[in-house]
Amino acid sequence: MTSSFALCTATPYNSQSLADWNLIEECGGEAALRELLRDFYDRIFDDVIIGFLFANSDKEALIDSQFHYVTSVLGDRSGEYGGPTIRAAHKELPILPGQFDRRHMLLKLVLLEYGVPDHVTQAWLELDTSLREFVVNMGATKRDELGAKD
Ligand code: HEM
Repeated sequence: MTSSFALCTATPYNSQSLADWNLIEECGGEAALRELLRDFYDRIFDDVIIGFLFANSDKEALIDSQFHYVTSVLGDRSGEYGGPTIRAAHKELPILPGQFDRRHMLLKLVLLEYGVPDHVTQAWLELDTSLREFVVNMGATKRDELGAKD
């Protein structure tokens, strides 16, 4: 079922309850969080499975956008994100379930390697998983529009 609610807010669906911790503080400061995101996107762009999807994307802009997005939806949600909804940002991309899972795995690895506290890692991965249908389903819709066969 399509939710009209999802179309009119920058954070269409947030599985997270408002928490009393701050993402930037939990990650060791803004520079540390940006470094983590840079590493994440370096791995994504170089990845053999999903890297090609980012061939025409501006990595710096994505790191910045991701920084604003995660700080606005995780923990005390003190950040500000002015970009498109997650659904809108991905609707032109034919993202397959396995490609979603690949990005999710890279995220998990980065959070582990940077020693992000468990409660933050859990919240971040739960948020990521909760957005699956907004990212993957729109890809499927796009493939349908293009007349692609299964
Ligand atoms: C649920 C997890 C995800 C989140 C939170 C997320 C978040 C974002 C954000 C915030 C943007 C930038 C929007 C903007 O400022 O214009 C973006 C763009 C993008 N995302 Fe994701 N994304 C997710 C999953 C994925 C997956 C699984 C893929 C592909 C495997 C993907 C591929 C892309 C690409 C290629 C762009 C750039 C599009 C462009 O350059 O115009 N995303 N994503």
